[in-house]
Formats: sequence, C-alpha cells, structure tokens
Amino acid sequence: MLVLGVETSCDDTAAAVLLDGRTVLANLVSSQDAVHGPFGGVVPELASRQHVRQILPILDGALEKAGVGLQDLDGIAVTRGPGLVGSLLVGLSVAKGISFRWGIPYVGINHLEAHLLAIFLEKEVSFPYIALLASGGHTLLYQVRGFGDYLYLGGTRDDAAGEAYDKVAKMMGLGYPGGKVIDRLARQGNPKAVSFPRCRMKKGSFDFSFSGLKTAVWHYLKGRGRNKWESEKADIAAGFQEAVVDMLVTPALRAAREHGMSRIVLAGGVAANSRLRERMVEETQEEGMEAYFPSPALCTDNGAMIALAGHHWLERGRRDDFSLNADADLTL
Ligand code: KG4
Ligand code: ZN
Repeated sequence: MLVLGVETSCDDTAAAVLLDGRTVLANLVSSQDAVHGPFGGVVPELASRQHVRQILPILDGALEKAGVGLQDLDGIAVTRGPGLVGSLLVGLSVAKGISFRWGIPYVGINHLEAHLLAIFLEKEVSFPYIALLASGGHTLLYQVRGFGDYLYLGGTRDDAAGEAYDKVAKMMGLGYPGGKVIDRLARQGNPKAVSFPRCRMKKGSFDFSFSGLKTAVWHYLKGRGRNKWESEKADIAAGFQEAVVDMLVTPALRAAREHGMSRIVLAGGVAANSRLRERMVEETQEEGMEAYFPSPALCTDNGAMIALAGHHWLERGRRDDFSLNADADLTL
C-alpha cells in the first residue's frame, strides 16, 4: 500500500510517501524557523500563510523523490489535530482536494498518535510500552498497549518541555527554536555549575510542570545581570537542560516500574535531545529496561509518521468523508 502523509499542524510543512507501512520513499519538511525566528515563537497567522505557499511544492517534491504520481497512491493520511487551526486547515483542505479529484481514500490523523508510533518507521518494538512524548506543544506520558490502545498517564500542567526550551532560549537571545541551540551549548557547559530547582509532583501523579523552572532561569538571569551571565551561557544551558531531563526521565521510569513495563519509547522534538537520549539509555539499562527513540528527523514533526498512522487506519478499513473538520484540541 502506497500512502501519502501530509502534516501542517504547527510550523512545519511536511509530506512523505510510505510504502507498505515501513519503507519511507520520501520525507520532506519545509521549516518555517526563519519566518518565526524574529518573534521568538510561532505566529499562527504567519504559519498558515506559509503553509499555503509551501504545501504544493513540498507535495510535488515528495512525489517526485518517491518516483510516484498521485494516481499511484492507495491512500492519503493528513493531520487533523491537535494544532493551530489555520495551519491544520491547509493540509486538510489539500488532502481532501486530492482525494476528491483522484478518488483516493483519505483519513484524518491524530498528530499525537503519529508521534507515538513514529518509532516503527525504524525499529520493531513489542507492545506494551511506556511512551514519553515531549515536543513544543505537548509533554505527555502514555502506556501504549497496542495500535489504537493508549492509556493516558499524565501530562504537563503548564508549559511543554519544548516550550520551556524555546522560552529560555528567547530570554538568552539564542534564537528560535531553542531546543537544538541549548542542546549544543549545554555540551560545552557544566550542569553542576548553575543548578535550577526540579518540580516534583505528589506521589502517584505522572504530571509534569516546567513553568517554575523557566521562571527560575529568568530570576537567575535578572539577578546576575547580562554582563555576568553572558560568560556563563554554556553552564546555564547545561544546568537548565539537566533539570528538564531529570523532570522527564524520573516520571517515565517510575511509570515503567509501576506499570510493569520494560520498554520506554521517546517521541516528539525534545526526544532529539542528546542528553535526554544519553540519560534514558543509562537509566533504563540500570533497571534492566530498554529505551527506544527515532532518529532526530523522525522525532520532530514529519509526514512519514502521519503516513504510518494512516497506513494502519486505512488497513483497518477506516475512510473519512469530506465533512471531517480540523480539531485544534483533539485528544488521544
Ligand atoms: O515535535 P516538534 O517538531 O513540534 C511540535 O509538535 O511541537 O517539536 C518541536 C520542539 C521545539 O520546542 C524545539 O525547541 C524542540 O522540539 N527541540 C528540542 C531539540 N530539537 C528540537 N528540544 C531539546 N533538544 C533538542 N535537540
Ligand atoms: Zn509534533
């Protein structure tokens, strides 16, 4: 089965072609970082306008790279939520248009489900597993019991982990998005030189909170003054990152222990973080568990994961009709 995956939920315009649910023939992403960079975060109206400009070239590019035409497709999978409604509508409208013109079935995909399944594009993982999804918009913990069977364990009560990275990077004038830059900078710093508080939830909760950490960084920068903290940037980045990683790894491992799981799968943009990957490997090994993470390009938003989720739904006979709408607050 040949499936086209279309993703426009936030600020990446992405399209991919997936063969038989495992061979990625093309996976193209047009990033809008340069558009939103000057604002230090995604500007929804600019995002939708940029999707309108990029969607057809990205689709054409993906089909060309895969060496297939629209008439060869067996299905189309498109993100229908959660995300920015104006952005979602661009991808959804294009997918519906192609479906209508060529008579190709299409399915609307939950972006969160696609992240949780992205690992299968590269590795075989046996169910059940604990999934930690950490991105710019979400920080969620699930028990994945099978395809379509997800048990919610916890989520962030305020900022998402990626959002904390982006906001701290903005405070330090490091540009947008902040995750990659802080990750790189932190490698030159000492995580013990500047220590930030960790938020711990009460026993039994698998929720997260990152806004206190963000505020702590703000107070630290203000207290030191720019002249002083400029020369400590790498240590601040390392201290902040170590706190984020602690706050992600600890609940994920506890969830695995308490639910009797031996596998933890990471997903979402923050799963590309080098320190998170390192710590997750070390700590799961100590407990006789296994950690899995997709390669960085499949952690951040991409069309291949949408096509993969679409493949499973299409295989199970699901078909959506043209009344399907975008849902900015779609849950799993
Ligand atoms: O999954 P994603 O591409 O989009 C959303 O659905 O949000 O995630 C983007 C987020 C951004 O906040 C970005 O700063 C963060 O992932 N990110 C990282 C890294 N690469 C991207 N955070 C920490 N370390 C990284 N290496
Ligand atoms: Zn995402």
